Amino acid sequence: MKVARFSKIGFILAAAGSAVGLGNIWKFPYITGEYGGGAFVAVYLITVVLIGFSIMIAEMFIGYKGRSDTVSSFEKLAPKHKSFWKYAGFQSMAGLMIMFFYAVVIGWIFDYIVLSLTHLPSSVEEAQNTFTQMAHKDFFTQFFYLTVAFMIVTYVVSKGIKGGIERLNDYLMPLLFIIIGGMFLYSLSLDSFSKSFEFMFKPDWSKLNSKAFLVAVGHAFFTLSLGMGAIMTYAASMPKDSNLVKSAFWVVVLDTVIALLAGLMLFTFLYEFGAGPDKGPGLVFISLPSAFYAMGVLGNFFAVIFFIALAFAGLTSAVSLVEPMVQYMIDKHLYSRKKASIVMGLVFYFFGIVTILSGLDGTKEYLTWGGSNFFDWVDFITASVMLPLGGFVMSIFVGYIVPKSEVESVLKPHLKSFFDVWYFNLRYIAPVALFIVMLNMLGIIKF
Ligand code: TRP
Repeated sequence: MKVARFSKIGFILAAAGSAVGLGNIWKFPYITGEYGGGAFVAVYLITVVLIGFSIMIAEMFIGYKGRSDTVSSFEKLAPKHKSFWKYAGFQSMAGLMIMFFYAVVIGWIFDYIVLSLTHLPSSVEEAQNTFTQMAHKDFFTQFFYLTVAFMIVTYVVSKGIKGGIERLNDYLMPLLFIIIGGMFLYSLSLDSFSKSFEFMFKPDWSKLNSKAFLVAVGHAFFTLSLGMGAIMTYAASMPKDSNLVKSAFWVVVLDTVIALLAGLMLFTFLYEFGAGPDKGPGLVFISLPSAFYAMGVLGNFFAVIFFIALAFAGLTSAVSLVEPMVQYMIDKHLYSRKKASIVMGLVFYFFGIVTILSGLDGTKEYLTWGGSNFFDWVDFITASVMLPLGGFVMSIFVGYIVPKSEVESVLKPHLKSFFDVWYFNLRYIAPVALFIVMLNMLGIIKF
């Protein structure tokens, strides 16, 4: 039973808030750097348009029709095979698992807001030291900011869809657009902009190996928040007369535009003031702060607002990672919203502490298996295995299990003549592509 629903624009902002996250501003630029620029961006864009957009519509459809938590929605749409399909609903556990590390990274960002207020590193070495000090040696700082992240997220989720999640997004998303847009405009005035543009949009296909290809596909899913019930859970609170196709379109466009603007701007700064496109997760925490230092006074200002924008992006995504399990506890186990939010909050808070320990000198030895620590493992299992699996399951579900007439009655009025193209894609192209990606990620096949 749903009482408060999103407004139409509120839904789009909240779903875009979920999609636009650390994935766009922190991860996308560094994997683009790592996998060689243009060709990688091209594969990512093609996947977003061909597969991401289709699955986004399918995921919204399940939530919109189901009007409930993910498990109940699958049950409702497949009444004859309820006991089997309800397991598909447990994809929402992936969101909570992503929070095990997502919340820690949001904590780092809080720390960096404070650091940039007082002091920027004057060289890449100093920046490297600052980061290493925090991530590998300093338990208390990370623990403190994780606690702050835990409190904010839990508070917002406990206030519900309308008073918590929609409100948060109504404020933070416009501010995020203004900050990223403003910094992008400034980067346009710098000489290195054209270099950055070339790096991102001139594909050098020789650099594209199969690993890069798979990472691009996986990232397209992660960045659109697909495959774990976040969009589905939000869609359950969409207004009845919403246009699913239009909403999905706007979410995909906003997410893609923010990723591209952030990438173009960051690479411009790194070319102009720093060491060029950097590879690896340290891009925004190491190379960028030293580039901001080289910018002078303006750099100080930019550093602070940049990390604020990053925190906003992270928080609006974080609430969407927790909400599916909260909704599940409310609908299925009759928890009050407050209790469900606190219990789920404590789960990611606890495992967040494990994530911190898995990076610290002294404890990381105990939390590392096969060369990867707890952080890397959770990232790998969720982003590389569970999300493609979730996408695969949803495309099969909407493509084969839900009667076509039901799908048509909701989507045909909006997709019009594109309905058949979309349906064909959902039945034959998307599941095959996702299945191959998954097998490859698991190392079962290699190409
Ligand atoms: N899309 C977010 C990002 O780019 C992360 C995220 C939020 C997410 N909700 C999700 C990823 C659901 C997968 C599924 O950072």
